[in-house]
Amino acid sequence: MVQVYDDRRFLGEDAQALAKIILTGDTGERWVKETEVFSEMMIRKMGITQDTVLLDYGAGIGRIAKSLIEKTNCSVIGVDISPDMLRESFSYVAHPNFTSMSLNKFQFLVNAGKLNVDAAYSIWALQHCDFEPAYQTIVKALPQGAPFFIANTLNRCIPVIPSGWADDGINIRRRLRDDFELTQDVTDTLSQHLPTDHQNRVFCEFMKKA
Ligand SMILES: C[S@@+](CC[C@H](N)C(=O)[O-])C[C@H]1O[C@@H](n2cnc3c(N)ncnc32)[C@H](O)[C@@H]1O
Repeated sequence: MVQVYDDRRFLGEDAQALAKIILTGDTGERWVKETEVFSEMMIRKMGITQDTVLLDYGAGIGRIAKSLIEKTNCSVIGVDISPDMLRESFSYVAHPNFTSMSLNKFQFLVNAGKLNVDAAYSIWALQHCDFEPAYQTIVKALPQGAPFFIANTLNRCIPVIPSGWADDGINIRRRLRDDFELTQDVTDTLSQHLPTDHQNRVFCEFMKKA
């Protein structure tokens, strides 16, 4: 059977339903703790200040963006393929330093030279994407030397019709080394804050664009 990307998997009626999709049901303690630990570490390691403009690739409803903005007064542009995630992100983040837009709009603005960012991050998102266009969007938006943070599963999890998740064999961790220099592998430190069944299935790395 030919498997086709199922983009309906990231649709939901409201923020509560979408949050369940984002952390596969772990919307309570994990949502709060993981968001806090990730954003604190990103601020320190990426040098995020009120002057920083960040791309949040696969932003969801803006869980991480909200925390970064509240802590530093930075600015974040969220990009996502899900119209429902984009819609709910405005009311969830609810801050004038946040905006979100479709993947097509963001790609258009970057390609036209009308938009670039100082830094980027992508959390539990690239694992699900049509990889190369998603990845090139991040690479093109960043200037040389810009910081990038990723948290991702080691294996690919592409949502496919009629159900389930497929692995197309792309090794994202290795692919990143073509364009980014690793600055710190924080997998062990951050994994401690994840559910035990995630701990040997993910990687979390800080890097800068080569
Ligand atoms: C597991 S959620 C993570 C959301 C957010 N990063 C967080 O940690 O709260 C994955 C997100 O990636 C988005 N996504 C999936 N494929 C994408 C693509 N090709 N480009 C942009 N976003 C995508 C989904 O719509 C969803 O919001």
